[in-house]
Amino acid sequence: MKITFYGHASLGIQIGDIKLLVDPFISANPKATAIDIDTLEADYILITHAHQDHIVDVEAIAKRTGAVVISNFEIVSHYEKLGIEGHPMNHGGKWDFEFGTVKYVNAIHTSSFPDGSYGGQPGGFVIEGEHKNIYIAGDTALTFDMKLIPLQTKLDLAILPIGDNFTMGIEDAILASDFVACDKVLGYHFDTFGYIEIDHKAAKQKFFEKEKDLMLLEIGDYIEL
Ligand code: NI
Ligand code: MN
Repeated sequence: MKITFYGHASLGIQIGDIKLLVDPFISANPKATAIDIDTLEADYILITHAHQDHIVDVEAIAKRTGAVVISNFEIVSHYEKLGIEGHPMNHGGKWDFEFGTVKYVNAIHTSSFPDGSYGGQPGGFVIEGEHKNIYIAGDTALTFDMKLIPLQTKLDLAILPIGDNFTMGIEDAILASDFVACDKVLGYHFDTFGYIEIDHKAAKQKFFEKEKDLMLLEIGDYIEL
């Protein structure tokens, strides 16, 4: 499994030959100018919630690639009206896709579309594929619901928001890492806006002191599990 960071909360995930894109917010991210959305490949686009900073490039990429949108029922319905194919899910449900299993799990946040229309309830994803398991938390507060995840899935990586203000900050992300029983964390949802700028060195040090590993990727860089 290869995981590429496209800035903010945008990820590319390759599982075998299948390419997933998560929460594409690239063309409107001034820090991600090196990434050209017209060259990104996607078989599926996973969307955690309907906020602008998670969906801005969904329509363009889905229409160009024919990617199938995977998200909550309301978000998938929104894109189906635009002629985009979707697979609707809701909290607690899982589905076996050609690349692996996806479970849509709870997040504590909000989920309106940029025009104020209802975007369902926000979520995260647990993805099991190629014998690797990851948790993409989405925008969320720290929540006890995270403790449910390791009851069923032994995670190889937790992708957690760390920018604070709109989501968990560093201290809560460290607790979230305990809750999901995974000490290997990829941080996201930081630095994009003034409200979520973080001190990288201090953040990594705090994880290190708890014997955990916080990875922060440059935009365009990837890790392999
Ligand atoms: Ni949000
Ligand atoms: Mn966000």
